[in-house]
Amino acid sequence: MLNIDELRQLTIQRRSIRGYDESREVSHEAIRAILECARWAPSGGNGQPWEFVVVRDKETRHKIADIYMKQLEPKREMDLAVRGTAKMTGDGFRHAPVHLIILGDPRVKESYPIRTKLEKADSHFITGLANATLLIHLAADSLGLASQYVSDANSPYMETMLKVMLGIPEPLRIYHLVPIGYAKGPVAAPPRRELEEFVHYEKYDVSKLRGEEGMSQFIMTRTLQGGYGRRRLEEEQKG
Ligand SMILES: Cc1cc2nc3c(=O)[nH]c(=O)nc-3n(C[C@H](O)[C@H](O)[C@H](O)COP(=O)(O)O)c2cc1C
Repeated sequence: MLNIDELRQLTIQRRSIRGYDESREVSHEAIRAILECARWAPSGGNGQPWEFVVVRDKETRHKIADIYMKQLEPKREMDLAVRGTAKMTGDGFRHAPVHLIILGDPRVKESYPIRTKLEKADSHFITGLANATLLIHLAADSLGLASQYVSDANSPYMETMLKVMLGIPEPLRIYHLVPIGYAKGPVAAPPRRELEEFVHYEKYDVSKLRGEEGMSQFIMTRTLQGGYGRRRLEEEQKG
């Protein structure tokens, strides 16, 4: 029986990994075990919206990564135009021996009560897929495997191209791509907010509400974007 210390350890040690060792294979059994965990994810109305495509073929994986790099071009251009800097996660996932394509079937929205369907069909659908995806990451980590989110898999260009390439029919949607493999090396944990900063007891403690300054400080120092933002500021100061 998994205890809280083991569960906490698993949640703390799991990392998003962006560099993979292509020479190390991942067994069929490992992928089955991971997807077995995903299948027990909670979902709105138990609609279980997920389907998975397991891609191992090297040529296909590299084509997927090429499509990813192409869709990145306007994304980078937009950040450059607005922020003057653009640092996106790269295509290291091409070397992961398995690409899991996480699909959702929106027809399961019919399993929700009518009012739920009208009010929050989309968020319930996405939440179910998110829960399955998180379990995939945790299960992979528990097996000593590395994984990552490639959320641009559902950007219009990449989703369209992947659907054609992999024969994914309508009305299925691509949610995310999750590469699975062995990490090239360890990575440091990105910072997390402290419990005291965001937990409120009995009622909301307004003294903890971040002002504009606090929020921009947070974004600039403790988020993924912040790392990039910090480097940009340093460059500006040097220049
Ligand atoms: C909805 C969502 C989308 C994400 N998209 C990407 C992505 O496209 N590429 C990537 O490398 N990481 C992506 N991530 C991973 C986050 O950057 C990562 O979880 C965060 O920086 C914390 O790092 P950690 O996962 O190592 O704890 C995504 C995470 C979530 C939940």
